[in-house]
Amino acid sequence: MRLDKALSGSGEGTRSELKKIIRSGKVSVNGKVVTDPGFKVELSDDISVYGNEVAVKENLYFILDKPDGVLTAMEDKRLPTVADYIPENLKGKKLSPVGRLDYHTTGLLIITNDGELSHRLTSPKYKIPKMYEVTYSGDPLTEQHVKQCIDGVILEEEGKKTVLKPSELELKEDGRCILTLYEGKTHEVRRIIASFGRSVLTLRRFRIGDVVLNENEPGTLRPLTHEELVSLKEQAGLMPDPS
Ligand code: URA
Repeated sequence: MRLDKALSGSGEGTRSELKKIIRSGKVSVNGKVVTDPGFKVELSDDISVYGNEVAVKENLYFILDKPDGVLTAMEDKRLPTVADYIPENLKGKKLSPVGRLDYHTTGLLIITNDGELSHRLTSPKYKIPKMYEVTYSGDPLTEQHVKQCIDGVILEEEGKKTVLKPSELELKEDGRCILTLYEGKTHEVRRIIASFGRSVLTLRRFRIGDVVLNENEPGTLRPLTHEELVSLKEQAGLMPDPS
């Protein structure tokens, strides 16, 4: 991998700052000064910035189709967790789930060790759409609920009022709907549906940004494709520098 890319996960600066630092002769690889940001390095190389050795890590990105009855956590004494779906050879890579799906929510969960992307995908600031397919009990939802979502649903819970960010509700037949959220408040879908006087029967996330879950085997873990990663980074304002 390129030297500047290898250093970008090390917390030493942004990709363009790192290029400048490399060009100014402050970076060495296996004891030799390197001034080309595109110099090819391996994870096993010893890389120093300003004379200090830095830990270079490889960023990894996966999609898990989370099954029902699994905690979005890397460890639990009693219950199955998403860590049970991560193969042994990836166990030391500091992977963790991006955001949280409830124990009974299924579907698309991104798992990565890229802290910056993880933060941006969950921050409301970047408005990354997350799409959920919901089945619910009770009377069919109506255009009135669609409008409430556009305006921002107001939750009144235990005497406390919370105004949610605008969302999109698509009505479907047979007690189903698609809800698109741009923030990730705890149990947000279930709370919105409850505020409409219905309750969620099943909840499945099938899309984040342009990344769509096409697995139909719960528990499947696969790497993000290059195109999927680029599109997520673009949406999160982390477009890789092409030079
Ligand atoms: N909203 C919820 O209510 N639950 C989830 O798991 C995700 C979003």
